[in-house]
Amino acid sequence: HLPNSPSPETDFILFFKLLTLLMLHSQTCMDKHQVVGVLRQMEKFLKGQEMRFTEGLRIMKSKLATLQNSVSKLPQADQSAAPTACPPLEAPAHGTKFGSKYFVGHEVHFTCSQGYQLAGSATRVCRDNGTWTGVGAVCKDISECASNPCQNGGTCVEGVNQYKCTCPQNWSGSHCQHQTQTDVNECEVYRLDQGGKLCVHECVNVPGSYHCSCPSGYKLLPDGRSCEDVDECLSQQHNCSRGTTCINTGGGFQCVNPECPRSHGNISYVKTSPFQCERNPCPMDSRSCHVAPKTVSFHYLSLTSNLQTPATLFRMATASAPGRTGPDSLRFGIVGGNSRGMFVMQRSDRQTGELILVQQLRGPQEISIDVDMSEYSDRTFQAKHVARVHVMVSPYNF
Ligand SMILES: *[C@@H]1O[C@H](CO)[C@@H](O)[C@H](O)[C@H]1NC(C)=O
Ligand SMILES: *[C@@H]1O[C@H](CO)[C@@H](O)[C@H](O)[C@H]1NC(C)=O
Ligand SMILES: *[C@@H]1O[C@H](CO)[C@@H](O)[C@H](O)[C@H]1NC(C)=O
Ligand SMILES: *[C@@H]1O[C@H](CO)[C@@H](O)[C@H](O)[C@H]1NC(C)=O
Repeated sequence: HLPNSPSPETDFILFFKLLTLLMLHSQTCMDKHQVVGVLRQMEKFLKGQEMRFTEGLRIMKSKLATLQNSVSKLPQADQSAAPTACPPLEAPAHGTKFGSKYFVGHEVHFTCSQGYQLAGSATRVCRDNGTWTGVGAVCKDISECASNPCQNGGTCVEGVNQYKCTCPQNWSGSHCQHQTQTDVNECEVYRLDQGGKLCVHECVNVPGSYHCSCPSGYKLLPDGRSCEDVDECLSQQHNCSRGTTCINTGGGFQCVNPECPRSHGNISYVKTSPFQCERNPCPMDSRSCHVAPKTVSFHYLSLTSNLQTPATLFRMATASAPGRTGPDSLRFGIVGGNSRGMFVMQRSDRQTGELILVQQLRGPQEISIDVDMSEYSDRTFQAKHVARVHVMVSPYNF
C-alpha cells in the first residue's frame, strides 16, 4: 500500500524510489509471487495516476478556454479607463472660480474681479471624454484701449483716464479716422509746365494747395500769381527827407537831389526845378560859355530785368517859344555815363530824338547815360541841352 501523496509530482518521486527498492529486493529476499503482487499494485497506481492526470489536463484546458473567451470579450484598453472626471481647473488671476467638482457633466463658472474683464469661457462643462468645453478663462485689465478705439491701424496708448491714438502715416484724427490729404506739390508739378509758371515769382506749397509770394517791395495782384511793385513814393511809405525827391524803383525807392554842374570860369548854373538846371547868361564874348549846355535835366527810369530790346526809353525834343522860329536842325548824341554800348540815341522825327535800349539788361544795376541835343539854325550852332538819364534795373522781370 502506497501512502497518499500530496501531489502527483511527489507521488511519482515516491513511486520511482519504491520501484528501485523493489528491484534491489527482488534479486535477494522477495519471491516471485510477492513481486507480482507489488507490480500489480503499481500498475493500478499508475492507472489511477493517469486518470487523475488526464482529468487535471481536461480541467486546465477548459479553464484556459474560458479565460481566452473572457479575454477576447474584454473592451479596448483606453476605453477600459473610461474617464469619470476632467482635469482640475484653476481660478484665473484677478478672478474667481465657482464649482469644485470635476466629474463628467459638472460645470465650473468663472468671474473676474472689478476692473477686469473676462476673456475666454465663463462656463466650462466636463465632457464624457474627460475634457472641458470652452477655453481657459483669463481676467484682463479693463482699459480705455481694450475696445480698440484707434482705427486704420492706429496704436492705442494708455493714459490716465484717457487714451491716445498714434496714427500710421496718411491717417489723422483722434481715432485715426481721417485720411490725411495726400498733398500734391503744385509748385513742383507745374514748375516746368509749358502753359506758364503758376507764380510769377515764387510758389509756396501748402497742404492741399499753394500760393504765390512776391519779393519785398512788391505786392501780389488779385490774379494770385503776378507781382506788382509797390510805389512807396506814391503811397507815402518812404522816408525821404525834405529837399530830396522820392523815386520809385523796382522793390524800393531812392531819395534823390540831383546837383547842377559845378561852376567854372564864366559858366554857372542855377536850379530851376528839382530836375532841371539852367545855365546863367554868358558874357557875349565867352565862347566856352556859349558851347556849354544851356540846360541840364535829370531823368530817372526804373526798369525791370531783361526788357525786350530794342526799347525806346526816353525822348528828347525841342520846343520853340511861341512866335519864334525854332532851330532848323538838331543833332543828338550820347556824351557820357557808363552805358558802354547798351543804348543808341537817334533822331526819330524832325524835332525829336530817342534813347533806345539795344542790349538786354539784368538787374540789379544802375546805369547813367548823358544824352545831348544840339540845335542848329542855318548850320550855325545855337545851343546844347543835356539830359542825364539814370536807369535803375530791378532784379526781377516784373
Ligand atoms: C472630446 O469630445 C469633444 C466633443 O464631444 C471633441 O471635440 C474633443 O476633441 C474630444 N477630445 C478628446 C481628447 O478626445
Ligand atoms: C501715403 O500717401 C502717399 C501719397 O499718396 C503714398 O505715396 C504713400 O505710400 C502713403 N503711405 C502709406 C504708408 O500708405
Ligand atoms: C529810411 O529808412 C531806412 C530803413 O527803413 C534807412 O536805412 C534809411 O537810412 C532811411 N533813410 C532816411 C533818409 O531816413
Ligand atoms: C569871362 O568873361 C570875361 C568877359 O566878360 C572874360 O574877360 C573872361 O576871360 C572870361 N573867362 C573865362 C574863363 O572864359
